[in-house]
Amino acid sequence: MANAHDADLAELAGGFIHDVKNHLSTLNLSLQLLSEDLADPQSPRERRALDRVERLHAECQRLVDLSNDFLRFARVKDLELQQTDLSVLIDELIDFFEPIARTHDISIKSYIPADLPTVEVDRGLLKQALLNLLLNAEQAMPGGGELTLQAHSDGNAIILSLIDTGKGMPREVLAKAFKPFFSTRPGGTGLGLPTTRKIIEAHNGQITVESEVGKGTRFTIRLPLPPDKQANRPTPSPLCVLNGQRMPLREAKVPVLDRGFLFGDGVYEVLRLYGGKPWLEADHFERLRRSLAELRIDGVDLDRLRRQVHETIIAGGFREGIVYMQITRGVAPRAHAFPADVRPTELLWVMETGDPYALKRETGVKVSLQPDLRWKRCDIKSVNLLGNVLVNQLAKERDAFEAILMLPDGTITEASHSSLFGVVGGVLRTTPDSPGILPGITRKLTLELAQRIGVPVEFRSLHRDELPLVDELFLTGTSLAVCGIVAVDDLTIGNGKPGPITRRLQEAYQEKLRNFLAEG
Ligand code: PDD
Repeated sequence: MANAHDADLAELAGGFIHDVKNHLSTLNLSLQLLSEDLADPQSPRERRALDRVERLHAECQRLVDLSNDFLRFARVKDLELQQTDLSVLIDELIDFFEPIARTHDISIKSYIPADLPTVEVDRGLLKQALLNLLLNAEQAMPGGGELTLQAHSDGNAIILSLIDTGKGMPREVLAKAFKPFFSTRPGGTGLGLPTTRKIIEAHNGQITVESEVGKGTRFTIRLPLPPDKQANRPTPSPLCVLNGQRMPLREAKVPVLDRGFLFGDGVYEVLRLYGGKPWLEADHFERLRRSLAELRIDGVDLDRLRRQVHETIIAGGFREGIVYMQITRGVAPRAHAFPADVRPTELLWVMETGDPYALKRETGVKVSLQPDLRWKRCDIKSVNLLGNVLVNQLAKERDAFEAILMLPDGTITEASHSSLFGVVGGVLRTTPDSPGILPGITRKLTLELAQRIGVPVEFRSLHRDELPLVDELFLTGTSLAVCGIVAVDDLTIGNGKPGPITRRLQEAYQEKLRNFLAEG
């Protein structure tokens, strides 16, 4: 509840509906008795009367159902938590639901391991939440189908999925699935799924839904384990793989004749790890493939590299951190042109970092406007980063977190290690893809999120002279995510706080991340 006034209103509405429901129940009963009295109509007039009474009865029943659903929704507050074995709870639920499923030709498949860690839940409420999902699945499969329940623990939470083979939801329905009073079912109150979400969130959990029309729907629930059961471990030390050999990062050594060391002749990638899972992995590997192709570095097996990344994450038990990958042309006597028969040097490391920029995302950061000193192929993620390093240092000396980069004509390209966006008159602005900027993976995601939340985008660079006019500025990057800019040198941006569109994009990013984590 946002404030005491809202809480009062909710209390009042709950009390009101409760009273209305009592009267409705009496009315409902009377209508039922009346229709029983008229059950055997003797004349057209009596038949008409019966019709009317039955219609009234149905309407009244609907109001009773609506009131019940409303009260269930409103009363998800005080939880009675008990240590619970989810496999038992789900077995009980399936026992209850099985007869309903059978009459609808729905077969239930349950893969709930018996050794799941116990969770602290309000059993009644959780059953209600899950039952709503089962009923939802039943309605999605009018011609029968298959309902699968799966669960596993990822060390910090239990992840439970309910998958049906029903008709699926189109995008516009999916977007509103958890909105109160939204229903596509005639006679539906539209409170089933919102109640489920409220119950799951009251347990500090998350629920997400994916759906494909004609294929089915999957609900995924993440219920956190109690803190004492979460994998509490010391921070793992960075681990690396150098040319296929795994070792502690501090032990890795590269020969001085490596062309990465001598010429900066190599490429790199940085991936974010959330909950032990590489984020936006396919995009990063695709960019790495492209960077290698642009530098004409051949003979790198990216599938093998990807497997090494996964093995290293598991070997070190990394959860919140980064994966750094670097491939250079290899080790050879120093000469500018490509050496013959050289084997690329392949390096990756995984490092637990936590979330170093959480606070900066809240407060926003100051940046400094600096000349873009870089070469003409900034679209290649090469380790040749001198232009980025020098301007970032200048920014730091001006007490700024990042340098935003400007060409001699005043065109602003991007930032030294992040992408740049502006908001002017409600329109998102960013530099179009070109050799002048790195095609940021977080930038690409941000553009998708902007489209999802309905913010128009214009691919046009900002100009130095426009800075006093912009409503918002923000940076995006792998470790940074989406981070507001509140000042450019001495110029304050907006009201000196991250702006509303920045905030909405940050929320959309978090939502996307929640879905990713719940995928199991
Ligand atoms: N920097 N622009 C530049 C010049 C960058 O170096 C980066 C990333 C970005 C953002 O790209 P992405 O969203 O893919 O991370 C934009 C990395 C993280 C680095 O050098 O550490």
